[in-house]
Amino acid sequence: MSQQAASSLDQLKSQAAQAFEKAQNPQDLYQAKVQFLGKAGAITDVMKLMASLPKEEKPSFGKKVNEVKQFLEDLYSQREAFLTEKEIQAKMENEKLDLTLPGSGAFSGSLHPVQRVTDEIVQILARLGYSLRTGPLIEKDYYNFEALNIPPDHPARDMQDTFFVDQTHVLRTHTSPIQIHSLENEELPLRILGTGGVFRCDSDISHLPHFHQIEALCVDEKISMADLKGTISFFVREFFGPGLKTRFRPSFFPFTEPSAEVDCSCPVCKGKGCSLCKHTGWIEIGGSGLVNPKVFEHAKIEYPKWQGFAFGFGIERMAIIKYGIEDIRLLPENDLRFLRQFT
Ligand code: DAH
Repeated sequence: MSQQAASSLDQLKSQAAQAFEKAQNPQDLYQAKVQFLGKAGAITDVMKLMASLPKEEKPSFGKKVNEVKQFLEDLYSQREAFLTEKEIQAKMENEKLDLTLPGSGAFSGSLHPVQRVTDEIVQILARLGYSLRTGPLIEKDYYNFEALNIPPDHPARDMQDTFFVDQTHVLRTHTSPIQIHSLENEELPLRILGTGGVFRCDSDISHLPHFHQIEALCVDEKISMADLKGTISFFVREFFGPGLKTRFRPSFFPFTEPSAEVDCSCPVCKGKGCSLCKHTGWIEIGGSGLVNPKVFEHAKIEYPKWQGFAFGFGIERMAIIKYGIEDIRLLPENDLRFLRQFT
């Protein structure tokens, strides 16, 4: 075998072995393999020397080439297995999970404070025999105003800034029209609660254009202010906590006569005076009164055989008093940082 061909083969063998050793990842290693063992690689070039060799040297040269090729293939496989394993180890090292770390936790949903307060009020009054009613958000002018003794052009209409849908329909400004639907459709005596969204063209730190009300209507024989006062006082104690006093101030609502504004002693300071009750010790929670005979007349109910009382509260207002919320606008915003305080 020619000395020259043999030595260049040996040289290639050690160059390839070095290149394989140098490669630090399977990709670089493959590049080195292509360089030496590939179709256009260095070994293929050396094979071309075969043509110029004397005939008797060709077999032994061919054998030597095959040995070198086999040696490098084996070396490659070993190195590849090693580098692949090394790569997997490094990856596992980097992606190691620390099972002792605290989990990120999952928040479960919960009732909105407005719904919670509604449910609580309903549950308390259900114990006195009241059951829940709802009604349409878009009301005929008749149900929102006229049947409640608020005739067209009556100044009482200015008490509530109304969104008109058309000449004869409004977004209901209060839940009192639910009373009328019940008076028209239900058997007497009755004890109902009307609740849901109401709308007024009004918006500031203590007023929302869309808010919720709940109101109670009791119609029976021989109903007096004493029944009204007893019911509301019971409710206030159950809802805000024992020891709270209730106070009734003469007021005016077209659908009740007499009418009274309801105050309770401030649940935050227990009547001592604080910023919530503006240092009066009292906080206004809603309106009430005995059903005005005019309302019975509209609903074709015989008076004074049947008499009644009613009262109504703003639910957002009850919520801000109960939970000490400073700005009523936080309630409809639905910021999760706020809502999660009620879970
Ligand atoms: N509807 C009244 C309002 O929204 C609240 C109210 C007052 C309801 C007296 C009543 C009541 O049932 O008797 O301003």
